[in-house]
Amino acid sequence: MQYVLLLCLLLPHVFGVTFQPLTEKPGLIDNGTSGPEIEVVHLFRGEAPIGITVSKSGRAFVTFNRGDLDSNPLTLAEITSDDTEVAFPNAAFNQPPGGLVNTTSGRAVGTSDSMHFINVQGAVMDSKDRLWVLDTGRPVVNGDNLLASPGGPKLMGFNIENNVTTPFMTITFPENILPPTGYLNDVRFDLTPSLTKSGQGVAYIADTELCASGAFGIIVVDLGTGESWRHLDRLHMVSPTSRLLATFFGVPTFLQTPMMPALHYENAGGGGGCDGFAISADGKFIYFTPIASRDFWRIETAALRGNTNNDPLAFIRAANSVQYLGEMGGQADGLETDSTGKIYISSPEHNSINTFDPETGLISVFVRSPMLAWPDTLNVADDGFIYATVNQLWLSPGFQNGVDKRTKPFALIRARIDGGRVQL
Ligand SMILES: *[C@@H]1O[C@H](CO)[C@@H](O)[C@H](O)[C@H]1NC(C)=O
Ligand SMILES: *[C@@H]1O[C@H](CO)[C@@H](O)[C@H](O)[C@H]1NC(C)=O
Ligand SMILES: *[C@@H]1O[C@H](CO)[C@@H](O)[C@H](O)[C@H]1NC(C)=O
Repeated sequence: MQYVLLLCLLLPHVFGVTFQPLTEKPGLIDNGTSGPEIEVVHLFRGEAPIGITVSKSGRAFVTFNRGDLDSNPLTLAEITSDDTEVAFPNAAFNQPPGGLVNTTSGRAVGTSDSMHFINVQGAVMDSKDRLWVLDTGRPVVNGDNLLASPGGPKLMGFNIENNVTTPFMTITFPENILPPTGYLNDVRFDLTPSLTKSGQGVAYIADTELCASGAFGIIVVDLGTGESWRHLDRLHMVSPTSRLLATFFGVPTFLQTPMMPALHYENAGGGGGCDGFAISADGKFIYFTPIASRDFWRIETAALRGNTNNDPLAFIRAANSVQYLGEMGGQADGLETDSTGKIYISSPEHNSINTFDPETGLISVFVRSPMLAWPDTLNVADDGFIYATVNQLWLSPGFQNGVDKRTKPFALIRARIDGGRVQL
């Protein structure tokens, strides 16, 4: 007995320690927050927002994805107060008289209506303060985007200051440039006259594609002639990373098919190819990243302006001008540039907006907050703020076995930045 007692005293660790929960905490705990203050400037009590653009005079335009005219009569709206949005240019323009879907051939496809909005994804102000609207022509029905009919997908320009209700320009795309599986996602402009013979500048468009067949790419438009051509078609840099598994709010997220990672391209609801899209402040590069990817790329715009319709080597020159900039530390949705040359990168996996500095090649956190529940589109405005839609995309039915797990309202936020809008 004495020997046992002696052992206890000599070798306390053999018998273990009795833990108690302590009130004191370790020295470093992630508070989920860094960077400048985030202001919530608008709440969306209805549909989740996608695109956002703010004009020089402070008018804000927002896009909503939709597939059903009755439940969602708006796909492009102007924000008019803290929580109201009004159809732009009017309600009728947002409602194709023949409906969004065409079933004449026995298979439901998007309407070919070129005069009304079908399913608008992008809305971007150019340096002349004109509003450009990018319509995918692909309504969402039962969680999937229907295929487009040529004529339906379009780029439309509006003069906003006099509120005319007809576009000054409508550009549709031949089927060999934009296949029915294509998805016009985002657009950037350079209006420098010397870029083209017609002198009206160019538009660069990300084709995200939302389909297993995978025709991801970049489309370029001559804004003087309306001619368009296609680059990087199906090359790996514009294509999704196979089996990418992204983590949102700490949850590795799969699609409705349990073993299919959320952003895998074989699942339409989970995203697709070339999506994040921005032009460098000097107009020399387009920065891009597929939504289902953590890789960051840029391509020379001079090579993109090579017209693949009449120059057989233009495609090769453009492909050879792509530069791999490394990983971003997470997948990204929207990209944006400011006048200092910085590229802003939305980072839904980290509830943050990061920046890429082209001088150093480094990515840093700009702002981080638990409120940034999937920052989607980013827009630098003339008032010294960067704006972002926050839409909980990974909780929408396409990612969640058909169940809508989003919590309304959705938000428009902004944060102060050093730079201003890029003037190209
Ligand atoms: C949160 O942590 C960051 C460092 O990661 C720090 O800069 C910031 O001041 C903290 N915020 C609060 C509210 O404690
Ligand atoms: C509907 O589809 C039919 C048959 O494919 C086609 O002829 C017609 O132009 C389409 N109409 C619209 C408005 O899309
Ligand atoms: C255009 O519409 C905006 C927003 O509804 C309004 O503030 C502005 O006064 C209108 N401009 C003209 C010239 O009608």
